[in-house]
Amino acid sequence: MTPFLEQEPMEQKVVLVVEDDPTVGESIRLLLKKRGYGILLASNGKEALSLFRQETVDLVITDLIMPKMDGIELLGEVKHLRPETEVIVISAQGTIEKAVQAMKLGAFDFIEKPINPRVISLVVERALEKQTLVLQNRDLRSKLEDKFHLKNIIGRSEKMVKVFELIQHIAPYDSSVLILGESGTGKELIANAIHYHSPRASMPFIKVSCASLSEGIIESELFGHEKGSFTGAVASRKGRFEMAHQGTLFLDEVEDIPLSTQIKLLRVLQEGEFERVGGNKTLQVDIRLIAASNRDLQEEVKNGRFREDLYYRLNVVNLKLAPLRERKEDIPFLVNFFIDKFNQKYNMKTKGISQRAMNLLVGYEWSGNVRELENTIESLLVINSPEVIDLPHLPQEIREYQEKPELISFKIGTPLEEVEKELMTQTLKATKGNKRRAAQLLGINVRTIHRKMEGKDEPLPT
Ligand SMILES: Nc1ncnc2c1ncn2[C@@H]1O[C@H](COP(=O)(O)OP(=O)(O)OP(=O)(O)O)[C@@H](O)[C@H]1O
Ligand SMILES: [Mg+2]
Repeated sequence: MTPFLEQEPMEQKVVLVVEDDPTVGESIRLLLKKRGYGILLASNGKEALSLFRQETVDLVITDLIMPKMDGIELLGEVKHLRPETEVIVISAQGTIEKAVQAMKLGAFDFIEKPINPRVISLVVERALEKQTLVLQNRDLRSKLEDKFHLKNIIGRSEKMVKVFELIQHIAPYDSSVLILGESGTGKELIANAIHYHSPRASMPFIKVSCASLSEGIIESELFGHEKGSFTGAVASRKGRFEMAHQGTLFLDEVEDIPLSTQIKLLRVLQEGEFERVGGNKTLQVDIRLIAASNRDLQEEVKNGRFREDLYYRLNVVNLKLAPLRERKEDIPFLVNFFIDKFNQKYNMKTKGISQRAMNLLVGYEWSGNVRELENTIESLLVINSPEVIDLPHLPQEIREYQEKPELISFKIGTPLEEVEKELMTQTLKATKGNKRRAAQLLGINVRTIHRKMEGKDEPLPT
């Protein structure tokens, strides 16, 4: 056998067989051993229980009538100690009622005496299969919960600390949340965190990327449709609102919802009611809505691209995520977090990063925000597997990046008035229209800016 094909040996499942009749016990033991299970034998409940406490047991098969401790009592103890253990009971003539009682108390199934080898093998297989699924599911859930735990959302800056406080404060309530922030600032991560910290955590979190849905299909996507309601609707289908019932609906890129759909959305938010496309039955849902946008939604309202009433419905709680350039103090924590994350993912042993490399990462302008930083760390780890990350491992554009002061040049002899006006216009551009900040940079009064910019030919940059 080539070493590449070698597989981990399957973990052997252990079955505890409890039976006071030694011939029956022995025959079950031989049968299951042949099928590859590990077997423990006990002749009464008491003995079984002490074995169960000491060993790792995946499945219990128990007789019902036994001296000292009977099968029902044992079932109760096992379920109490380790609820994920499946229990199969064996019923003999006259114990059928007890077997039914056992099922009610959480036994997986019962098999009747005399024992049929095919039946017992099948029931054992099914019980273990169910157990694996339950355990996998639990594992997945706890992984999800862990991923969106606040401790895995990194940020020590005052801005992020405020975000964490707000999340904890609002998560328990059903109020709508509007998350605003540039691309890659963590909007989706935060939306998930709110859901997983809310009482709706065990119910679905359903995401709709509004930008990827054309005007024609967005309504059927959101509200579902009935069969035959439009060409191509060959079967009726649930919409995302229905899927998110009792959970959270996350409308990502909400600014891209067409105006005609916005009015319908407003109705669902106000009344909790809607109809499927082509349907006449009114459906009711109970959802919490979280919306996200990387645009200035208020501006969209001013421009008539977004309904004002809908904006206020969504904006009950407003959560703004600052871009990384406004919270550079978070960068070292994020870098170390991502090193740990990819060390684990790729089974690497990178110990950390040199101070000078860290300084460059902190100084760099991450236009793609946290996502870009994360991708950079991932690829430099994968490409170099460095023991310690240092300058040569960084991508060229980061090594060569320097904060360049923006320059304006004037011909000698340019009238001072023109110079002044151009300087103000460019400074305002750099501050994205923030007059107070521009005045600060220029060392003048805000009113001076207002006055000097009045009556100008070009509109103020916004
Ligand atoms: N504070 C943070 N701590 C840890 N990881 C973060 C943080 N913020 C963002 N990330 C990671 O950065 C990536 C981008 O985050 P996310 O998808 O939530 O951003 P977004 O704002 O929804 O972006 P877009 O507008 O592009 O959809 C994800 O892999 C996310 O896990
Ligand atoms: Mg997103």
